[in-house]
Amino acid sequence: MITNPLRDPRDRRLPRVPEPCALVVFGITGDLARKKLLPAIYDLANRGLLPTNFALLGFARRDWADQDFAELSRDAAREHSRTPWREEVWEQLASSVKFVQGSFDDDNAFDELAATLGELEGSHGIGGNAAFYLSIPPSMFPTVLKQMQRTRMAESTSDRWRRVVVEKPFGHDLASSRELNALVDSVFSPDDVFRIDHYLGKETVQNLMALRFANELFEPVWNGHHVDSVQITMAEDVGIGGRAGFYEKTGAARDVLQNHLLQLLALTAMEEPVEFSAEEIRTEKLKVLRAISLPEDLRTFAVRGQYEQGWLAGQRAIGYRQEEGVDPSSTTETYAAVRLGVETRRWAGVPFYLRTGKRLPRRVTEIALIFKRAPHLPFADTDTEELGNNQLVVRVQPDEGVTLKFGSKVPGSVMEVRDVAMDFLYGEQFTEASPEAYERLLLDVLLGDATLFPRNTEVEASWTVIDPLEDFWEGTTPYSYRAGEWGPRAAEEMLAAEGRRWRRP
Ligand code: BG6
Repeated sequence: MITNPLRDPRDRRLPRVPEPCALVVFGITGDLARKKLLPAIYDLANRGLLPTNFALLGFARRDWADQDFAELSRDAAREHSRTPWREEVWEQLASSVKFVQGSFDDDNAFDELAATLGELEGSHGIGGNAAFYLSIPPSMFPTVLKQMQRTRMAESTSDRWRRVVVEKPFGHDLASSRELNALVDSVFSPDDVFRIDHYLGKETVQNLMALRFANELFEPVWNGHHVDSVQITMAEDVGIGGRAGFYEKTGAARDVLQNHLLQLLALTAMEEPVEFSAEEIRTEKLKVLRAISLPEDLRTFAVRGQYEQGWLAGQRAIGYRQEEGVDPSSTTETYAAVRLGVETRRWAGVPFYLRTGKRLPRRVTEIALIFKRAPHLPFADTDTEELGNNQLVVRVQPDEGVTLKFGSKVPGSVMEVRDVAMDFLYGEQFTEASPEAYERLLLDVLLGDATLFPRNTEVEASWTVIDPLEDFWEGTTPYSYRAGEWGPRAAEEMLAAEGRRWRRP
């Protein structure tokens, strides 16, 4: 290998470009591929982050020629890409777009896929390296994985790598996730398995680690001595779109709480990793996930809800049970909130309130550390009537940034202290726009960097938290809330029971 003496291999500021390789997408005709994966591939190409020798292979049942597939991919990329459209970039990408037609139980189709990969080695110089993206329902994993095993497509050797990308949900509960993990690990080597939780690809989520571990300011107060409680919110104004089939079987707790919210909690609560590597970060997150405790009184501290018809942004919104494809007496939740504890020296006694829901007033994801009140206020009571708790809010999206809320004197001749906010906004401080989560994560897969991908043990630890909640809710009807409200009243009561309130983000 030729090395550049001027380039320090540890210098991460230099853009990393993967080795020659192919990306094979199963489920290429699906929503995820159209809205996220294909645009991300184009954006990476546009930013010069794909290797010159790169091939994109789509696998699906439809009877398409390479040309049809290239056109569909172009339309999807053009419609949803983040970076400006440059026809010449697409033209270059399109010359190595291939399509293999077949169903997942069709041996011939998989033989053809293996042969196509072999041909691309010669014609496109991809060096035998390939990543397989399973953008398909988990029920189809076993068939596809067995085909890959049969055709020996899953084998990494000393001269080529083979990797697999698995989309959430990783199972339906602890037992099924163990089965799934065992299956994937029996076909691919565990280091070659990339489980996507796209929240970890968001710039602001990665910034949590920079905020905590690159500064002296925050870490000394990042614990139960100073923090009263933590609120993690992922609110969406949208409903379930056309995903009734998936959502009816899943619900908010399995769809979001089990993965995105618990990963955010883990990053917020974890100890400093020994180094910034996949192994060490995953180890620290796992410790937190294992230390999570559920409340004894689940009736008060675990609340689920379902939206009824209401109003959102001046528009009438139908109720969940009226959505197309939803059972009119469905008991699937579209909102979930829970109070968790983290039983470590740093966090003992600090409640972590997590909530997520659809058809809430606005789309917002944030992590808020609510600090304790100052132990003593040398003012008259009336001077601080308007003073709340100090807060540090990591705004994951939108308006990406960080807000610090603290008390300040109101100008004037009397002493009056009121909350003010200090804001850091990505859009104002940096000229470069943040990449989309899928751009970052796809690139990491091709680079073989697993830092932002949860390990199987993390997934299983997360199900250990969710299973008792699902058992408790089994057979019950969720509380209702009107579309456009911040969830059911029981969720407000959950915090009120401990003298607290949800933030209004
Ligand atoms: C997905 C969930 O993981 O995240 C969806 O399955 C949800 O239900 C989506 O809408 C939200 O992602 P983002 O990046 O738009 O916040």
